Amino acid sequence: MTSLALESFVSKAMEHTRHLCEPADCVLALAPLMLDLMDQAKTFLEPQHYRSDPEHYARNLVYEAPDASLSLYALVWSPGQWTPVHDHGSWGVVGVLEGVLEERNYVRLSPSNGANEGIDLVRGGVFLLGNGTVTSFVPNPDHIHVTGVPSDRPRAVSLHLYGRTMNSFNTYDVSAGTRQRVNVAHNES
Ligand SMILES: [Fe+2]
Repeated sequence: MTSLALESFVSKAMEHTRHLCEPADCVLALAPLMLDLMDQAKTFLEPQHYRSDPEHYARNLVYEAPDASLSLYALVWSPGQWTPVHDHGSWGVVGVLEGVLEERNYVRLSPSNGANEGIDLVRGGVFLLGNGTVTSFVPNPDHIHVTGVPSDRPRAVSLHLYGRTMNSFNTYDVSAGTRQRVNVAHNES
């Protein structure tokens, strides 16, 4: 880490997460820090953090805590690139640096009992998250969503902070009513 702004953000975020065990309290404390961090993005984002991939959205690692309690990524979404339907099993705070990131939400109608089948999801609302927006989510109940950029919109770049190393998430097959844990790749910093 070479940027004072990033160092300060990480140390404050670590401090908060050490003392706040409720995910909702974590995102409440960290969302304003993300807003400030976005103003300083030019001080720590390097060309490698803007790497894209023609096959899928790109996850570029910015910072990973040694104890795996936090991770920060720069995600680059080329037009037409989307996540699967997923949840993170963690809280998260997202700041949009460039473009408009679209988030389509799902509402779970069946009880959240830990099973990987018999999951009844219906489509919920959509968020269009413009440059400068900070959004967040907490687990339990799971925050289930699809994120991406439609093919007729320019690319988006966003910063994503999670309450753990985000190397896997739950993906859902909505019509089958199932979910499975999958590993997600990233580019090293
Ligand atoms: Fe997500």
